[in-house]
Amino acid sequence: MEAITEAPAARASRHKPAITAPDARRLSDIPATDEERLPVPIGEMSRVLGGGLVPGSVTLLGGEPGIGKSTLLTQLAGAMAASLGCVLYVSGEESLRQLSMRTRRLGMDGANDSLYLLAETNLERIFAAVDQLDPALLIIDSIQTAHSEALNSAPGMVGQIRECASQLQQRAKAGALSVLLVGHVTKEGSIAGPRVLEHIVDTVLYLEGDPFQTFRLLRSVKNRFGATSEVGVFEMSATGLVEVANPSEAFLQERAANAPGSAIAVLLEGTRPLLVELQALTSRSTFSYPRRTPNGLDLNRLLMLCAVLSVRAGLPLHEQDVFVNVVGGLRIREPASDLATALALASSLRDRPLPSDVVCIGELGLSGELRSVGQLDARLQEAAQVGFRRAIVPRRRRGNPAPAGLQLEEARDLRGALQAAGLAE
Ligand code: TYD
Ligand code: MG
Repeated sequence: MEAITEAPAARASRHKPAITAPDARRLSDIPATDEERLPVPIGEMSRVLGGGLVPGSVTLLGGEPGIGKSTLLTQLAGAMAASLGCVLYVSGEESLRQLSMRTRRLGMDGANDSLYLLAETNLERIFAAVDQLDPALLIIDSIQTAHSEALNSAPGMVGQIRECASQLQQRAKAGALSVLLVGHVTKEGSIAGPRVLEHIVDTVLYLEGDPFQTFRLLRSVKNRFGATSEVGVFEMSATGLVEVANPSEAFLQERAANAPGSAIAVLLEGTRPLLVELQALTSRSTFSYPRRTPNGLDLNRLLMLCAVLSVRAGLPLHEQDVFVNVVGGLRIREPASDLATALALASSLRDRPLPSDVVCIGELGLSGELRSVGQLDARLQEAAQVGFRRAIVPRRRRGNPAPAGLQLEEARDLRGALQAAGLAE
């Protein structure tokens, strides 16, 4: 046994040149300087990036086709060319004419002389252009269309995507060049694209939203140079993406006061509390299996909430079709909005509006109990700031006093919350 395992090692040592030990350095000898960053003039994006783009880093911007990735990066390219000098925007999807039409639509005509556009998919040729122009920022739109001659496979195949990304990564590191890659993701997020890239690149951002609505969220899911909990909010307008300074007010701006079936939830997007309206409609079903149609929240969560409302509060939802909509096109991921969904449903079923100055916060358990949620204080603060006067919240064992002007109504369970909302029978 031993002879067999030792033989190859002995042979290898005869042929391989001796390896010189690489220099490992003492931690205390490495200067602890902060990363230098290129300022990003779009505030919401700068915040998500952790304060700017790091030279020599690669950032991936993922999102569904049509969500606004090219729009955002064209705006960024224009703004950064103005402040930074040479920026190269390479598109493999659109012609130069289409690119320049977009810049015109975005009000960037006659933009400065430092923004260069290139319609190209061949990575070697892209590098030749980089050699010539020596840009500080290189944008590749999209990584799925890029291909390198190093591989025979077609653009968009996993191997190509990975090869191009790692060549771009090396290039970025070598020349202190900042690279931004666009990656398309399908609704299921299943495409062999951005997901395989996430571990190659330094930073991963996703642009999300409902393409038929105007709001877009920019989220960071990986960041080697900053926190991943930041979220930027934009609105798609006829002239590009506009930063939304006060998202809670924006999400509530079309709210009809005193309409049955509407309730306000306080979500937490990253570190940012966000007020959104949940709308529910119940209507007598003509089907033997009544319909449950969520828009912006999980179907299984809705099924569970319907069951809890039926069993724990005696609401006859079994004969009703149920529709629930998150206004503004947001997707809700956290159970802290359970109570708002449940109260919106109860309000529609009873055809009685909730008081217009109330927010609803809490997760519902299967026994109908109202469970506590993370960062309640931050959520209450935001509700008070937007002008709400009352909050129905889970019972607290201890807690800070409520923000000025906001009255807390603690409820132990769903029945208690219905009572507090004036929706008990
Ligand atoms: P785009 O940035 O091309 O999406 P992606 O690169 O993610 O595929 O934008 C797609 C949509 O945005 C398109 O349907 C048109 C719309 N749009 C605007 O509403 N306003 C604008 O100023 C621009 C440039 C695009
Ligand atoms: Mg595009």
